[in-house]
Parts: sequence; C-alpha cells; structure tokens
Amino acid sequence: MIKPPKRYTVTAALPYTNGPIHIGHLAGVYVPADIYSRYLRLKGKDVAFICGSDEHGVAIAIKAKKEGKTPQEVIDHYDQLIRKAFDGFGISFDNYSRTSRKVHHDTASAIFKQLEEQGQFTVKETEQLYDPTADAFLADRFVTGTCPICQNSEAYGDQCESCGSSLNATDLIDPKSTLSGSQPVLKQTKHWFLPLDKSEDFIKEWILEGHKDDWKTNVYGQVKSWIDNGLQPRAVTRDLDWGIPVPSEGGAGKVLYVWFDAPIGYISSTKEWAEKNKIDWEPYWKSEDTQLVHFIGKDNIVFHCIIFPIILKNTGAFILPENVPANEFLNLEGKKISTSKNWAVWLHEYLTDFPDKQDVLRYVLTANAPETKDNDFTWKEFQTRNNSELVAILGNFINRVVVLTDKYYEGAVPSPGPFNDKDRSALDGLQAFPAIMEKEIENYRFRSYSQEVINLSRLGNKYLAEQEPWKLIKTDPERVKTILYTALQIAAGLSILSEPLLPFTAQKMKDMLQLNPLWDDVKEEELLVPGHALGTAQLLFQKIEDEEINNQLDKLKKNLANEENEPKEPAKKMISFEDFSQMDLRTGTILQAEKIPKSKKLLLLKVDLGSEQRTIVSGIANHYGPEEVIGKKVSVLANLAPRNIFGVESQGMLLMAEDQDGRLIFIAPEDSTTPSGLSIR
Ligand code: MF3
Ligand code: ZN
Repeated sequence: MIKPPKRYTVTAALPYTNGPIHIGHLAGVYVPADIYSRYLRLKGKDVAFICGSDEHGVAIAIKAKKEGKTPQEVIDHYDQLIRKAFDGFGISFDNYSRTSRKVHHDTASAIFKQLEEQGQFTVKETEQLYDPTADAFLADRFVTGTCPICQNSEAYGDQCESCGSSLNATDLIDPKSTLSGSQPVLKQTKHWFLPLDKSEDFIKEWILEGHKDDWKTNVYGQVKSWIDNGLQPRAVTRDLDWGIPVPSEGGAGKVLYVWFDAPIGYISSTKEWAEKNKIDWEPYWKSEDTQLVHFIGKDNIVFHCIIFPIILKNTGAFILPENVPANEFLNLEGKKISTSKNWAVWLHEYLTDFPDKQDVLRYVLTANAPETKDNDFTWKEFQTRNNSELVAILGNFINRVVVLTDKYYEGAVPSPGPFNDKDRSALDGLQAFPAIMEKEIENYRFRSYSQEVINLSRLGNKYLAEQEPWKLIKTDPERVKTILYTALQIAAGLSILSEPLLPFTAQKMKDMLQLNPLWDDVKEEELLVPGHALGTAQLLFQKIEDEEINNQLDKLKKNLANEENEPKEPAKKMISFEDFSQMDLRTGTILQAEKIPKSKKLLLLKVDLGSEQRTIVSGIANHYGPEEVIGKKVSVLANLAPRNIFGVESQGMLLMAEDQDGRLIFIAPEDSTTPSGLSIR
C-alpha cells in the first residue's frame, strides 16, 4: 500500500479581477474545493487551501481602458467584491492573495529567470500588428475590424462575438487599433517561447500512462486530444504594459503572459500564508509526500495539466499535481451563463437577496454539480431541493430531535436502556456513513457525497417515524429515552458529516448540540454522552415560496431584456422593397480557389458571373478547402463596393448560411445546370 500523504496543497483557480463571480464559478471550482479542504481538516490533516486574484492579462487592461480607469482601480474593485463573495459563502481558504503583490512578482520573475538560465526558452522574432500612433504592439484584443466570415464590423482580433469564430488579428478586414484608431502595421517583435513539443513524452508518460485510471475522463480526454494534435511552442511573453515585466535582456516593454504567471500565484500565495504563520512553505510545493490537487473549470485544463506542469517539472524543484478534478460548465435556465449578456446569478447579489441561505446554494450547486457533463441550474430546482430535501428531510429531523429532547428532558441527553435491533441498526447505519462519504469525497464525487448527507438524515427520519417517541412517551417513557438517545447520536453525526457541504448549518447544529468533534469520532460508539446539555433550538432551513423564485426569474428576464435593447448588435431593421432591389444578387460558379497565405479563414476565389469573372475573397477556409469548392454553384452579391482584403481587391460577396453547428453552407441554385449570371429576386 502507498503511504498516505503527509500534507495537502489544495488550489482553486485564481479568478480574474475583471468582473464579479457567479454561480458557475462556485459550482465548478470553489464549492468542491472547499468541501475537499474542509473534509481534510476534519480528518485532522495538514492542509493549505490556496487561492487569490488573477490580476494581469489583456482583458483587465482593456476593461480599464474602456471604463477610463487604471488597471489598478479595476482590480482593486473586483478583488474586494470577489473576496466578500467567497467570505459570504464560507469558502475557507487558508490564504487568498493577489498576483499584483510583490511576493508574486518576485516569485514569477525568479521562476522565469531560472528557466531562462537553464536554456528552457527559445527566443523568436515574429511579425505582429503594431500601432504606429500609440507606439505599441497590439494584443489581438486591441484590434477590431470587420469579421471576414460574417462581416460584423466590430469583430475583435481574437474572436468575432457576432458569429463566434475565433480569428487572428491579421484576418480582420480594415483592422483598427483600439488604442488610437489608426490602422496597424506589421512589425517584428521578439518573444520567449516555451517549447511544449519537447515535453510531449513527459506528459504522455505522466498523464496518459500514469493517470489513465484515476483522473476524470473529461480531463484525461482533453489532455489526450492536445497530445494527439501535437504540442506547439507557446509564447510566454507579451507586448503589453500591464503585468510582470520580463526580467531579461531585451524584455523592455514586455510582460509575462498571464497564463505563465497566474498559476505561479498558487506558489506565491502559499509563501505569503507560510510567512504569516511562521512556517516553511517549501514542503507544500516540493515534498514528495505532499498531495497537490488543482480545482478548476474545464476551460483551464490545458494550462493546469500541460503548461504549468511543464514549467514546474522544468525547474526541477517542484512536485506535480496528484489530480486535477476539473468540472464542466453550469448553465442557467437552459442558457449558457454569460457575463456580457448579464445572464448569471451573481454571488454578491444572491447574498443580498438571500442573506441566510448560503448553504442552500452550496447544496443545490453540489447536488447538481457539472461533474461529468454540463448541467443546468434552475430556480425551480433550487426551490424544490430546498423545500423537499433541506427543509423536509434534514431540517425536519434535527428539529424534531432537539425539540423533543428539550420537551421531555429539558435539553439533556437521556440515558438509554437496552438497545433493540432497530436501535442497533440505526447506530450501525450511522457508523457506516463516514467511510461511504470518504470514498466519495476522496474520489471527487461531491454530488454523491451530498446525497449521502440527505440519506443519513433520511435514516434518522425513518427511525423516528417508526419508533414514534411522541406516542410512546405516554405508554413507555423508558423506551423513549433510548430512542432519543439514538436519534441524538445521528444528529451529532450529521453535524460533523455535513460540515464540508453545509458549514453554516453544521455550525448551528454544533451550537444546538454543544459539540465540536472530528470526522472520525463518528465511527466511535457515543458522540453525545447521557447528561450532556444541549443548547437552544434554532431553525435550520426555511421553506422558499413561489414569490421569491418568481422574483429571481423576473430579474433574469429583465437583464436579458436590457441586453436586447442595447444597440451593440442591432437587430436588422426593416427595409423597403426599393432598398432590397438595390442589391444585385446573381448566380455564379466558382472557377478557381486558393488559400490566402497568412490567413486561416480566407479563400481567394475566381467566380464566373456569366458575362464576367470576379475576384472574391471569402471567409470560408475553415469550412472548405480550395479543391472542394471549385465548380460549386453560388449566390453572389455582385454590387457590394470593392474592398481591399489582404492586398487583394474583393469584388463581391458569397452568400452563405450558418447551420446549427456553426458550419457554413452554400446558398446555391439547387440545379447544377443553372447558368451563371442569372439575377436572383
Ligand atoms: N483566471 C483564470 C480564469 O478565470 C484562472 C487562472 S487559474 C491559475 O479562467 F492557475 F492560473 F491561476
Ligand atoms: Zn463574425
């Protein structure tokens, strides 16, 4: 048997401080990480539960610019908001740091320098868009222009938010710098690359062979597909003025790529914690007897399973994660959660609307966590799970036990008489729960663990319902002592075993029972000894009425309505027949096609329009190869003003339709014998 770890370093993804956090974050990362850490502490383990704010990166620089603030102002604002939300939900970090702090800058710079000195980077010159007016290189996000695919005129250099295509800044038509509005030019720039390709064998051996059976299939599958596609060198520096300066010669005006520095934030946050507590941080990151676990969402898998481990490994100093239990995504009322569309339940708002219901959300998000596939949060389910599970099962059981003990014995634990089979099986049942729950938690199955909490409450409820102490009190009061003694042991067990999931409620239970045991104490015979005095009864959960749920649904709908009224993406306005008839739509045939070098999306086409041939640049290269489209019948907008795209004059536009999977299909005359040049009306 392998020796159990001596200590645990548990990390939760550092949230970006460019917006507040929502239920998706809580469900995917922070509640599972908190359950795991709280459980380990209850087991008496040495745990460092580590997090912090992720404060660099171009998104923050842009947000600041948009709002006319400094990046520092933006991160200070959201750092505060996020801290409060975590605190409000009882996320029990041992340390929550910030990547803007000195300890982090120092740590990340040192690791970068060390790798550089060891010759672990390649330095390459590449061509990038540069704003001559602002005298700055432009990250993709700082370039806007017309999407070559859907013609949306406000596409970003990395993505078109209208059609969802991912782009390269150099694909945009009429690109503009968001810094000055001027047209960017291509210019040479130098960057540091981490040659991931050289570490392919390491990742294969470590994950694909070493963790085939113990890592979640969604995580393993993503890693495998990255490896199957072949790893490429990755730039770990950026031309930007917000971040950690590149600590090397020739690094002026450049910063570390945010995904290089952020995960190192786990290490610097651990250092900060250790310093505060006057202990040594190093064992938490360097000792083989430490178990390192990263809790993240699925969009972070490549960084935590491939890139960061390669960095850790290449330093030769650090341990690797034992597991990376990434979750899938949580949807909201059937739609993808979206910050920009305000389709979200924001944690700070929830805390205002439901100030004493943190555990209800923790419970619902865990019971329905997106552990193996994307899942949906609905307010209706929130209400149902509260009313019929937390109130009717857990709350009801605890309430009955405490109230009856109060009533019959003035709040002191009664002395039991002889146990019958029912009592014994209830007590044995209780003692079996820790082991069942441990297995679920240690294997990152928090949904199942949450249902075991309810199952244990069910066991208690069923026992009381069968024994009916409220009837026996008149006929056999001695027997009632045994029954309540037994039920109290189950209540005591619940106050411990539910704590990782429901910390606020567990605290109330412990106050009511005047008890503060450890997890393994549940395996012992007696948690509450006869004569032990209980505290005052408190209500644990309250029914949630339809009205509260409808308010939340209305709020969501209002957000959506506001969004729809925003001019950002105008619904197309009505046009007159005259407007329509100004379009010269014609049938055509593609005669020639070739790729445009340097562009991923664009094909250069020669299209026959009957009386003439046109050169058309079309953004379909992601969907069709040049050889596939030669001979295709197409519909063409023939009187679109010519435009210069990649140095070619495009004289018209192909009409394409986008299907549900985002694939572009030709809108073409069905009959392949249709001549070119017919007018479409
Ligand atoms: N800020 C990133 C996100 O929200 C996560 C960073 S995790 C870290 O997706 F490891 F880089 F810290
Ligand atoms: Zn587009």
